[in-house]
Amino acid sequence: MSSDDFYALYYDLLYSHRDIRGETDFLERVFREHAKIPVRSVIDVGCGTGLHSVELAKRGYRVLGVDISEAMIRRAKEKAAGLENASFIVADARALELSERYDAAIAMYGVISYFTSDGDLLRFLRSVRGVLREGGVFVFDTWNVLGVLEKRSYYETPSTHFRKSGSMLAVKEEVWRIDALEQVAYADISWSVIDLRSGSVDVRSHSLKLRLFTIRELRHFLSDAGFEVAAMFEDYACRPLAESSSELVVVAVAR
Ligand SMILES: C[S@@+](CC[C@H](N)C(=O)[O-])C[C@H]1O[C@@H](n2cnc3c(N)ncnc32)[C@H](O)[C@@H]1O
Repeated sequence: MSSDDFYALYYDLLYSHRDIRGETDFLERVFREHAKIPVRSVIDVGCGTGLHSVELAKRGYRVLGVDISEAMIRRAKEKAAGLENASFIVADARALELSERYDAAIAMYGVISYFTSDGDLLRFLRSVRGVLREGGVFVFDTWNVLGVLEKRSYYETPSTHFRKSGSMLAVKEEVWRIDALEQVAYADISWSVIDLRSGSVDVRSHSLKLRLFTIRELRHFLSDAGFEVAAMFEDYACRPLAESSSELVVVAVAR
């Protein structure tokens, strides 16, 4: 099995601690409160296995999920079987060329942090703006450099986390190295997926380079790409953003 297939197959187990219904409640609230047009269609950029796409489609939205990974899109299509209002395509989010425009865009779970160069970041934001209707909203989450630096020793100390679903157990070992001057984190992550029935173990490792943002640069890049920031939160519970928040959720409106 390729690494791509491994992550697509086990993604929902590896992230089974997440409250996708709660996050989708948040999205619906933001659509109601911040979009300047009624939200009926949503593009899920970097959709992975379609966690939010499927939940939004079940709630009646017309959804297009986009991901650069063929394996993720295959898995998303399997999960959305029978949902006629959900479709999925393999595409690079930095260069979306679609005939349709959407009322809302989402990029959940740090997708924007993958674009570590300013050029890629702007290509990504302009590409998302290009597929949104004027007055539509763009919702995404990422890392606040100030909060991450405040908890630097926590992130840079190796940690182990467990996820369990049915007879499957996943063990995550993770450590970050933060380059504060460049505003990036290098995350080394190793997953051991154990089938408790058969005793088989599959181990994979990967490294990620993640961009950490200041609020002012986010506002600047979003404005450059045709967005205006409408709200920022610490999390999907709408807790107010503080200096010490390591994560941040941004709601931007397409001008
Ligand atoms: C951390 S996952 C998040 C998946 C999903 N949004 C979620 O909430 O679980 C990041 C996703 O972004 C996708 N991705 C990375 N670079 C991309 C690009 N240039 N264009 C489209 N998708 C990309 C990856 O394949 C991966 O599925």
